[in-house]
Amino acid sequence: MTLAEKIGQLVQLTPGFFGSEYGDVITGPELNIDMESVDVWQTGSVLNLSGKATLDKLQTTYLEKSRLKIPLLFMNDMIYGYKNVFPIPLALAGSHDNQLLESIGAFLAQEAAADGVHVVFTLMLDVVRDPRWGRVMESPGEDVHTVAAYGQALVTGLQGNLSRDAKIDMRHVAACIKHYAAYGAVEAGREYTAADLSQFSLLNTYLPGYLAAVEAGVKLVMTAFTVVNGMPDSVDNWLLSEVLRKQAAFNGVVISDYNALNELITMGYSADDLAAAKAALTAGVDVDMMATIFANGLTKLVHQGAIDTTLIDQAVLRVLSLKNDLGLFENPYRGFDNTANEEEFTQLSQRAAVESSVLLKNTTAGLPLAEDSKIALVGPFAASPLTLGLWGSINADFSKVKTLKAALENGHHQFTYAKGYKMYDAHVVGTEMGGQFAKAEAEDLQTEAELAAEALAIAASADKIVLTIGEDFLQSGEAASKTNLHLAPAQVTLIKELHALGKPMIGIIYSGRPLILTDVEPYFDALLLVWFPGTNGGTAITDMLFGKATPSGKLAMSWPRSVGQIPIHYDSLPTGRPLTVHNANERFVSKYIDSPNTPLYPFGHGLTYGQDNITCEVTQVTYDQVSATILIQCAVTSETIAIEDVLQVYLQQPKQATVVLPTQKLVATKRLKQQKQHDVSIAIPLSALAYYDNQGSYHLDGGTYTFNVGLSSANILAHATVNVPK
Ligand code: IFM
Repeated sequence: MTLAEKIGQLVQLTPGFFGSEYGDVITGPELNIDMESVDVWQTGSVLNLSGKATLDKLQTTYLEKSRLKIPLLFMNDMIYGYKNVFPIPLALAGSHDNQLLESIGAFLAQEAAADGVHVVFTLMLDVVRDPRWGRVMESPGEDVHTVAAYGQALVTGLQGNLSRDAKIDMRHVAACIKHYAAYGAVEAGREYTAADLSQFSLLNTYLPGYLAAVEAGVKLVMTAFTVVNGMPDSVDNWLLSEVLRKQAAFNGVVISDYNALNELITMGYSADDLAAAKAALTAGVDVDMMATIFANGLTKLVHQGAIDTTLIDQAVLRVLSLKNDLGLFENPYRGFDNTANEEEFTQLSQRAAVESSVLLKNTTAGLPLAEDSKIALVGPFAASPLTLGLWGSINADFSKVKTLKAALENGHHQFTYAKGYKMYDAHVVGTEMGGQFAKAEAEDLQTEAELAAEALAIAASADKIVLTIGEDFLQSGEAASKTNLHLAPAQVTLIKELHALGKPMIGIIYSGRPLILTDVEPYFDALLLVWFPGTNGGTAITDMLFGKATPSGKLAMSWPRSVGQIPIHYDSLPTGRPLTVHNANERFVSKYIDSPNTPLYPFGHGLTYGQDNITCEVTQVTYDQVSATILIQCAVTSETIAIEDVLQVYLQQPKQATVVLPTQKLVATKRLKQQKQHDVSIAIPLSALAYYDNQGSYHLDGGTYTFNVGLSSANILAHATVNVPK
């Protein structure tokens, strides 16, 4: 290979560079890219091209024009859906159903592969603790165990059950995890800012999720734009070479995020493209996404003799190995024979929406509704197909979306519908993605007052009010940081006016992030959080409303009472001056003087129909030295109703540790399905007891450990204690 051919393999561009006929979905800043010494027909991969015919055409043209005929790699953002869309990851993670998640991964792979996509940027494994950040919706949430379990299940589903270096069959694709590392910790939740984290926090909280996916055999890792502890992630030798390549033995491809290598210059780390190229390649980046740092900088470095060319060869070999693992040399059109099974999608996506919807609040006047209830259905989310969330919408087929209104019509339920208020906040009107919809909304001449009057009129003659509230899909996702997490004023006014009618009111919340509901929560008899529920969300919501299915998702992120409580998460470290029921009136304790310390809805929370009747008794706890596993057995019973719930096991703060550890830490979950009586066996690997100290040393102490078993981090039903030899 010539130098240009080698460097070309290390460059990724959007389709527009190959010709305007390929179109462009722009997922980053608009750039003026000028590759000086690498021809576009020598580049190795393409970002976000979709449509079988288009991919086919570009691959064919490329192979005709390229001397070596090394097939192009097509990489796509398909976070939780392609044309068919599932609920957002923050919702899915709360299902704690690994088998479901694996099946979702397998479906995503099938649909992507059938279109000719080879690599999917599906797995954002950034731990998130600040709902001001718009991208929390793409993450599995605030908890280390949940993030790791989610990542492993999806990697297995997407790639097939692979051993680390195995080839990927035609029904599967290569998965990429992102954004390594700690992008979720951006300061104050503001997009693209730096993160400042202790080593303790990085090692115990932020890194394990990514590393669990590496252990599961993930083929690619994307670096973050972020500066962490003063070092840009894409040039951090410790993160990339030491932790990822050496300690975790990752031998796949590392790709930088969109224009991130160029931004090394903007942020003042690198003086020019030569310095940026050298730093990134040396640290371990193989592919430069949407910048010319590798194309131009590496070429100049080689001509000056200023870089070790074996580093270039290694990176090229990794890219070619990935192409080989995907079978591209045998068949550049791999996967085209696949078809996604639509029937399977319908079932999976409905089940996913039910298992990830969170019943935040319920009363006897709330849910489920009687079949013959006369309903006033209010709020634009009920009738809008735009409830897939930003990243589920890039290729989504909106014509397939089952809205709640359509699903109620299909089920022949008695209801009348009124929009009630406008869906879009004025500030999002005209933004590029979805701008057309927002524009139409802005041009709608009905005033908010007229819309509200219409809603009040239909509600006056109904038995129950079902009101959809929340955030529109442009308000979360990338570059959607917010300082105000309250509902829009028009929604709050309508809630109060409808409540004044004195009828039972059910709130259905559509959102990509935790919102502040403290002031409006008392107006509702039930609150069902459906997040952005995916293509078949409406059907699933209808089933849950009428008790054909019980919502059984758990919060993967705490819902704060106010923005002032952020960051708030269930596994915070204890203080020497804890707030207790006895000292709440004292001054010198760890508390706010204007708010409780606890969130409105804690991590792991999620009611089910009949949860009040559940009892749990620990029947046996054993430690098996051979398999290094703790086994907790319990009997979970409900006298009245078949249980559909998620049992959660939290490790209580061990007293023998050399540092202060969280008061509680989730170590295992078990989904209970549709029975009154469950004999549950929960296995906890010994490694769940391990931690890093403040010097970065790894500890597994042994001693007496207590586990709390319950239905949320704040609803513990039983305790189990076990001795583990030192
Ligand atoms: O995959 C994304 C990433 O999450 C954010 N920047 C753009 C990438 C490619 O579209």
